[in-house]
Order: sequence, then structure tokens, then C-alpha cells
Amino acid sequence: MSSLADRIRDRTCRYGVLGMGYVGLPLALAYAQRGVHVVGFETDAEKVRAVQAGESYIPDVPAAALAAAVASGHLEATTDMSRLAECDVISICVPTPLSKSRDPDVSFVDAATRSVEAALRPGQLIMLESTTYPGMTEEFLLPRFERLGFALGRDFWLAFSPERVDPANRTYGIENTPKVVGGVDEASTRMAVEFYRIAVQTVHPVSSARAAEMVKLLENTFRSVNIGLVNEVALMCDRLGLDVREIIAAAATKPFGYMRFDPGPGIGGHCIPLDPIYLSWKLRTLEYRARFIELAEDVNLAMPRYLVERVTQALNRLGRSVKGSEILVLGVAYKRDVGDTRESPALEVIRLLRDRGGVVTFADPYVDSVWLGEVELRARPLTPEALARADCVVVTTDHTAFPWAQVARHARLVVDSRGAVPRAEVRGTLVPLSGPALEGRPGGPAEAPAAPAAAGRIQP
Ligand SMILES: NC(=O)c1ccc[n+]([C@@H]2O[C@H](COP(=O)([O-])OP(=O)(O)OC[C@H]3O[C@@H](n4cnc5c(N)ncnc54)[C@H](O)[C@@H]3O)[C@@H](O)[C@H]2O)c1
Repeated sequence: MSSLADRIRDRTCRYGVLGMGYVGLPLALAYAQRGVHVVGFETDAEKVRAVQAGESYIPDVPAAALAAAVASGHLEATTDMSRLAECDVISICVPTPLSKSRDPDVSFVDAATRSVEAALRPGQLIMLESTTYPGMTEEFLLPRFERLGFALGRDFWLAFSPERVDPANRTYGIENTPKVVGGVDEASTRMAVEFYRIAVQTVHPVSSARAAEMVKLLENTFRSVNIGLVNEVALMCDRLGLDVREIIAAAATKPFGYMRFDPGPGIGGHCIPLDPIYLSWKLRTLEYRARFIELAEDVNLAMPRYLVERVTQALNRLGRSVKGSEILVLGVAYKRDVGDTRESPALEVIRLLRDRGGVVTFADPYVDSVWLGEVELRARPLTPEALARADCVVVTTDHTAFPWAQVARHARLVVDSRGAVPRAEVRGTLVPLSGPALEGRPGGPAEAPAAPAAAGRIQP
């Protein structure tokens, strides 16, 4: 029988992907399209049925490509974890959420590892792709495989490789996004690098799995901290009577030494709000407090409340209260052009507005309904009538599919946390994330901003 290295080289290796979600499904498809036989392992039988039927449930995965990969026999999915024994290479792509007490919840990785343990046989390469704290691959996975009597580097190889998928990014996908890889030993790094080279143009090895784990956390902590900074700058600008977007647009003309981040209603998704917490948790065990992470989390988590304050003040200025007002929220996905509502700040905005007695509806071209505790809220169509009827329209997600000019023309009052509404088209009142409100003229273009005194400052 040929070695694993040979089978990777000639692509006859069998690849198992545990977890067929946002990360696992595109990864499985990429390898299937390159002629590798891929088996997707999923606990959710509905996802298995969908894959087998060639139906895509991830917006970035075209159904036609998925169906073609299944029809060609290169891709299949199953709930039968014992079939992991057939696989030469296994990637674990299961969720790594936070527990109720905001500590890492590694129960999914634990369950996936148990499935791998039960099917482990000599000659397998196992890679963790779920984002986690530095040290997990070596401290949590390695001992469990060694305890079964398997020797690292002889019977199996083990590596960590962070997933960098950016949903809805049309420029960077699996092939042209460099992949960082760190094995728990050198042989594992080499084996994993060879495997990733099948589908990824640039593979960047690092010295250890722990280093690879830290790379991912640096990347997402960098985003969280910079979004936290720019969100705080929005609060500062409001105190100063300035529109933060004007300041950012001007700062971004600097061709060096400045990287643009934009403020908004908070942070969301499965990565940016959670990943830094994995790092700060690990550091707490080492008696080190990750101050930047904590501060960014404080600022970012406070943004939905700030936005709701802004809505409250904007309505007050028109002699209305949130209680009883019809409020139309535009966008519940955590970011533009995706349908993912996990950790979305829009949900917190809706919750807070409902707590204050607002009659809240929402529109989102990618989301049919959301659950707020026990209550299901269903999306409404975005029509000129719905815009005109609302006492306040709140922009929480700047989907490109939204008819922004219509929003500007028909809404009586818009609180725009994303800077999406074209100012020149505004007929009613536009309240930006920070700074003065803009008064439009009914039937005519918007007038110059009111004096800073009318900024409607908000106490954070
Ligand atoms: N979504 C992103 O943009 C993104 C980007 C980079 C990294 N990540 C990381 O990748 C990991 C996966 O995230 P995701 O967004 O793909 O999550 P997801 O929820 O979309 O998919 C995970 C899948 O794993 C399945 N699953 C759970 N337990 C399982 C088990 N024991 N065996 C087999 N399948 C199981 C779930 O049913 C689900 O379909 C997380 O650690 C996340 O932080 C996500």
C-alpha cells in the first residue's frame, strides 16, 4: 500500500470533513473539484440530505457546483461517523462557540474528536480547523490519540490550520487565500502543507500548532480591537458634533500608515465577537489580563444600546416615544450581503427597542425570520409604503440589495448606523451614527446639516 504522502501527491487520498457548515462545505467542495474523494460528516441529517441532493445551504457555495461534485462521485455526505476510518485525511470544522458564562465551549470539538478516536487507524492526518485557543491541538487532541496507543509521526499526523473564509467575499476564496499551517511536530506540518497545496495556491507553514492557533486569534483580535477603536471614535465624534464618516473618509485618503475600519451597530458573526475571548480566556489561565480585548469587547457590546439611544432621541425630537412607534429595522444579518444572523448586533437592537415598547418589524433579503427568545419575527417586504408608514427606519445592515435611494426618499426618519443612505436623496430626517442630523425637504434634496447644537448628543 502506498504511503499517505504518495496518496496526497497523486490525489488518491480520501478526505473526511467533520462539520459541513460555512467552513466545511466550501472546503469539501474545493477538494472534490480537484479530484479528491471527499466525505462530509455531519450530525445534522438535513444538511446531509441537502448535500446528497446537490442542494446548497451556504450562499458562497453554488448549487450547480455542489450538484456536479456529488454527481461525479467525488463528494458525498453522511451522519455515519464510523466511516471516518475510510479517510486518510480528516479536517475538523465544527463550531467553537462561547458558553453562557462567555468561556470557550469546546463540546463540539470534543464530540468530533471522540468520533475520530473511535475510527482512528494508522496512516491518518488529522487537522483541526475550528478556531480555538493557543495550545488546544497539542493539549486536548494529541493526548487522546496517543492514549489509544498511536504514535505521532509514525501512526498519525496532527496539525492546526486556521480557516480564513470570508463569507460573501468575491475576491478571495479558498484557492487564493494563503493558508497558515502548524503541525504538532515537523512531520505533521510537512504532511499538512502537502495536503493544502492541492487546493490552495500559497501555504505558509509556522513552527507549531500553537503558533498557527495564535495567528488566527491575532487576525481576529486585530479586527475586533480596530472596530472597537473606530466605534469609540464614533462616540467621541458625537460628543464633538462631528460625523465620524466624514472623518474616516478623509483619514483614509492617507496612502500609508492608516487602515480603514468603519463603525456600526456593533460586531457579529461566528468569529470576531468570539475568537478574541478564546485568547483572553487562555491568558487568564496564565494570570495575564488581555486588556485590549476586554476594552474592545466593552465598546463593541455597548454599540446596540448607543444606537437605540440615538433612535430614542431622534423620535423624542419629533415629539414621539419609542413606545408605540412603528420601527422598521433594515438588515438583521451581521454584515453586508450575508444571511448569517449569529451574534448579530441587529438582534440586540430589536430586543432593546421592543423592551422599550417599540412595534418593531424588519426587512432583510437574506433572512426570512429571526427568533428573539420565544418570539419569532418574520421579515416583511421592503416597499415604499412600509418605509413611509414607519415612524423610524433603523439601518443596521448595509446590504447592497436594499433600494437605498427609496429609503432616502420615502422614510420620514432614518437612523443610519452604516452610512448607507444617500444624503442627497433624503426627504425626511437622517440621523447618522454620530454628529448632526440632516434635514431633507419633502420633494427636494437634503439641506446642509443642522448646526452642531442640534446634534442630539447621546450619553454613552
Ligand atoms: N463562518 C466563518 O466565517 C468562519 C471563518 C473562519 C473560521 N471559522 C471557524 O470555523 C469553525 C466552524 O464554523 P462554521 O461557521 O463553519 O460553523 P457552522 O455552524 O456553520 O458549521 C459547523 C457544522 O458542524 C456540525 N457539527 C457539530 N458538531 C458536529 C460533530 N460532532 N460532528 C460532525 N458535525 C458536527 C454542525 O451541525 C454544523 O453544520 C468555528 O470554529 C469557527 O469559529 C468560521
